[in-house]
Amino acid sequence: MTPPPTPPLPPAPPTDAAGVLARCAELDHLSATPDHLERLYLTEEHAAANRLTAGWMQAAGLTTWQDAAGNQWGRREGRSPGLPALVLGSHLDTVPDAGSYDGMLGVVLAISVAQRLRDADLPFALEVVGFSDEEGARFGKALLGSSAAAGTWDPAWADLPDAAGDTLARAFTDFGLDVARVTDAARRPEDLVGYLEAHIEQGPRLEAADRSLGFVTTIAGARRFALTVHGEARHAGGTPYPRRRDALAGASEVVLAVERLARAGGCLATVGRIEVHPGAVNVIPGRADLTLDLRAETDADRDAMWDTVHAELAAICDRRGLGLEVVETHRAAAAHCAPWLQQAVIAGIGATDDRGAEEPMGLWSPAGHDAMAVAAVTDVGMLFIRCADGISHSPEEDVREVDVARALDAFESAVRHVAAVQA
Ligand code: GLV
Ligand code: MN
Ligand code: MN
Repeated sequence: MTPPPTPPLPPAPPTDAAGVLARCAELDHLSATPDHLERLYLTEEHAAANRLTAGWMQAAGLTTWQDAAGNQWGRREGRSPGLPALVLGSHLDTVPDAGSYDGMLGVVLAISVAQRLRDADLPFALEVVGFSDEEGARFGKALLGSSAAAGTWDPAWADLPDAAGDTLARAFTDFGLDVARVTDAARRPEDLVGYLEAHIEQGPRLEAADRSLGFVTTIAGARRFALTVHGEARHAGGTPYPRRRDALAGASEVVLAVERLARAGGCLATVGRIEVHPGAVNVIPGRADLTLDLRAETDADRDAMWDTVHAELAAICDRRGLGLEVVETHRAAAAHCAPWLQQAVIAGIGATDDRGAEEPMGLWSPAGHDAMAVAAVTDVGMLFIRCADGISHSPEEDVREVDVARALDAFESAVRHVAAVQA
């Protein structure tokens, strides 16, 4: 009997920048809508992105699995089986109307680096991860995938609702997972050497310094809130001003106070959404729902700013006879990149022809990253890549091929540096 034909091997992953960019473009097609890129946690698009990246990981010689939180992993052993792993990765989820590189570039680049190091003799296992939820765009709470992997999952998150009212627990079931088993995704510190993440900068500092790459020192602490301003819905013509309790007028003052206080305090605060009820042209708004995102370089600065903002918002609402309801939806501590992994990234940048190679540029990151959740379980380091005009969270996100080429070289060299230190 003739044996069945062996299925053809998928093509080896590209190890050059053009190939990495082509793969990011391929991931763009896995979207909730054809008009723009939107890939939220525990959706069909999420499953499709995991399947596509798993295939790429396998072609790079990695053994793959999807964990109990929907994170996609791949692994190759080091010089002997079962060694602790150095993990390379980022996230595969996006904000609504996203660009092509926030998260995805780090995952695709990590797979290509694994391919470049396919035959390298490493004193650790090498793993690549595509985290399932970094943005928090579906359930409000960010870093869900990486928190599960870090073993810091809070069981209360199971009840978080999405915009359609479906709970996180329900979304797990629909995705074929069981939220009661999410702790199976937790990694043990003793199984890990560290975590390295490559990510676009999402700000303009590398571009201003005319550099392709930088290393991250710390990642900002963040808190997010759902704010509700309660007023009274009444007739827009029949209600004189002294009798009005206009929730939107109060919310407008809230938005401006948030901006004024954060600017003065050296923090970053954003109201990203307002919904007004009942939302009719001739009805005084009875309720306004707002989101608030607050970040600062240290947790102490972030918390002090929230205390100041909260007191001012309460005073505004009080003065206008409005109610204020506050629910915290996300809190992430500022994370420090481990000095020894900063050194590995610095060495990696130094091995490239980036203009800043002699003295690589260190940056703190006001944007959140999976590394800040992973820091709870192992040491982390990050490589930043210049992006055009510092734009991110927008379809205008762009990177230069030369910067991606340098990032590939730097990331590969950083892994080799870790190997030399660990040997
Ligand atoms: C993630 O991109 C965040 O910083 O919100
Ligand atoms: Mn990101
Ligand atoms: Mn993002």
